[in-house]
Amino acid sequence: MRNHDLVFLKHFSQVIALLVGITIALILLGIYINGLKPPEANPVAEAATLARIQPAGAVFAGATGAAAQAAAAQAAADAAKGQVAYGGSLDGSVIFGNLCTGCHTAGVAKAPKLEKAAWAARIAQGVETLHSHAINGYNGPDGGMMPARGGNPALSDEQVKATVDWMLTQLK
Ligand code: HEC
Repeated sequence: MRNHDLVFLKHFSQVIALLVGITIALILLGIYINGLKPPEANPVAEAATLARIQPAGAVFAGATGAAAQAAAAQAAADAAKGQVAYGGSLDGSVIFGNLCTGCHTAGVAKAPKLEKAAWAARIAQGVETLHSHAINGYNGPDGGMMPARGGNPALSDEQVKATVDWMLTQLK
């Protein structure tokens, strides 16, 4: 190699080394500046904390207290009403359409579809038996699993019976 080639190589590698140094310095600076930001709170963790530390009760006093208490009682009553499945509806088509259809329309997990052939032997057991199987759950001989109340414990006996009766009117 000629002499001026060597000089060029030397300068060139010095420039490269300098650039590498600057890059590393910038990376470290970036990490440092990022570390200065206050960490962002996780909204899920925050909600969980709020739920954990919310007061278990409240103190009511005087006339405003009485009004607040009445409002709280009303809210509790409304919430309890929500526990009644489908607003207490005895309309089998509503309950079926919201719940039972999940299995009984497509025949999921050996659930009998609303076809006469699938129900002839079942109807022969008597409607009382069908009601009780729908309320208490039923594991038939062919390995199907009918969950008690279709899997919604909030359904009343009357609601389940009304739905079974409605299903029997829909067989094709
Ligand atoms: C998770 C699926 C599933 C849901 C939801 C479901 N069923 Fe069933 N149901 C079944 C299966 C599976 C069978 C068949 C059980 C067997 O005979 O092996 C069955 C059978 C029945 C039977 C016949 C029982 C008998 O004695 O032959 C009735 C009646 C019935 N279901 C009513 C309902 C009603 C009413 C609902 C909604 C409130 C409902 N099912 C929701 C899966 C379901």
